[in-house]
Amino acid sequence: MRFDIITIFPSLFDSYLKESLIGKACDKKLIEVKVHDLRNWTDDPHKSADDTPFGGGGGMVMKAEPIYKAISEVKLGGKKSRVILFTPRGKRFNQKKASEFADYRQIIMICGRYEGVDERVAKFIADENISIGNYVLMGGELPAMAVMEAVSRLIPQVVGKESFLKERKKGESFIEYPQYTRPEVLEINGEKRRVPRVLLSGNHQKIKEWRKRKGKSIK
Ligand code: ADE
Repeated sequence: MRFDIITIFPSLFDSYLKESLIGKACDKKLIEVKVHDLRNWTDDPHKSADDTPFGGGGGMVMKAEPIYKAISEVKLGGKKSRVILFTPRGKRFNQKKASEFADYRQIIMICGRYEGVDERVAKFIADENISIGNYVLMGGELPAMAVMEAVSRLIPQVVGKESFLKERKKGESFIEYPQYTRPEVLEINGEKRRVPRVLLSGNHQKIKEWRKRKGKSIK
């Protein structure tokens, strides 16, 4: 699996790629991450990736041309590549989308910035418009990290736990349940907070039922 990230802030990814499990997965060649500076595909001396909007109004709009050139150059081609534009107007990202993306050979992520991106990118260049939640961020870089992480952990050996693989099966939900570790009793703001007794019982059936009851099903 290869991720290509197109951004005007490539250095935002430096420490993330160095410190995280994603970095380790790259070292182990389980995934490949290429961060591209969009300004490499601009053709004016100022390397402008944005311009004023037609029709007036405030702010700047990211130009479609450098994005189009960048995609044309980095795309491996064929049906195995998926081009994603991050925008708050996109379809909501979820676990099902993550497993869908995990089946591609290449995910190209366009990180929008400024007040918007020329709509021709959303309509004619990207295969999908994705939002990570109903709020507006300052750009697509954090969404790109979120999607890359959710997809990568579904790739065998990235998190080193084969049981995660069942999450990849389409439409299959799984339970995220509360976890505890030592100590059994912890004083917080003057109150003794204990680990739920059932978890110390050794009764695996009861523990399973408790986890199902307390957990949240992720679809
Ligand atoms: N860009 C700005 N806000 C965003 C969001 N919520 N999801 C994806 N991309 C964005």
